[in-house]
Amino acid sequence: MTHAVEVHGLTKVYGRGATQVTALRGVELGVPSGSLAMIVGPSGCGKTTLISVVAGILDPSEGACRVLGADPAKMADLDRTAWRARNVGFVFQQFNLLPTLTAAENAAVPLMILGWEWDTAVAEARAALDRLGLAGRGDSLPSELSGGQQQRVAIARALVHRPRLVVCDEPTSALDHDTGQHVMELFREVADRHELTLVVVTHDARIYRFADRIFRMDDGRVVESHVPEEAVA
Ligand SMILES: Nc1ncnc2c1ncn2[C@@H]1O[C@H](COP(=O)(O)OP(=O)(O)OP(=O)(O)O)[C@@H](O)[C@H]1O
Ligand SMILES: [Mg+2]
Repeated sequence: MTHAVEVHGLTKVYGRGATQVTALRGVELGVPSGSLAMIVGPSGCGKTTLISVVAGILDPSEGACRVLGADPAKMADLDRTAWRARNVGFVFQQFNLLPTLTAAENAAVPLMILGWEWDTAVAEARAALDRLGLAGRGDSLPSELSGGQQQRVAIARALVHRPRLVVCDEPTSALDHDTGQHVMELFREVADRHELTLVVVTHDARIYRFADRIFRMDDGRVVESHVPEEAVA
């Protein structure tokens, strides 16, 4: 089985001296290509740190990380930016939408980075918003949208360029039950159809059944993994 994500002995220490914080202390993780992995664990255990390293947003302190056959930490900055733009989608815990761009323009950003022409990119982004139940809201600014609507714009942005890996930090935290289930169904469908690999951090037990495997973290380590009961896959 090929792994889209393979992590060995990963450590991350933030800061130095007296303010030093060890966020990861030897993480082992393997996520098969085309599967949906969830990462659960208490606040502060290192979930966001781990997926930031996997997505090539943050450098680890030590350890090996193979993501889609490459190690982002070993790439030159420009290569890494290009690699990420082509292959990775990221749903941030705080959404990180640009306040002066409309919903459709926000969702189109990854396509613009890849050099798509503006109108085509925004049209494609509108289609992605439609699939997330946001038809007709493409021209709204983030400040004009509810939290759950903003979260779905962030999800559209993570999927719009059809990356091979999507990393999501609590993607259903602002969604009601039905919308959360719908978003996860969409994730599963895209994963199954396009061989997309998904790594989803969550506290939301209502979506566990969408996972192929659930990894539990505690204090900077992956301490256990299991296949969920009632899995939909
Ligand atoms: N930029 C940073 N500088 C210093 N310490 C940090 C930084 N980011 C995170 N930490 C610390 O690293 C540890 C892990 O943080 P992380 O954000 O990965 O946790 P988490 O599991 O995502 O938590 P939550 O469920 O609350 O989002 C925490 O102790 C946190 O305070
Ligand atoms: Mg977090």
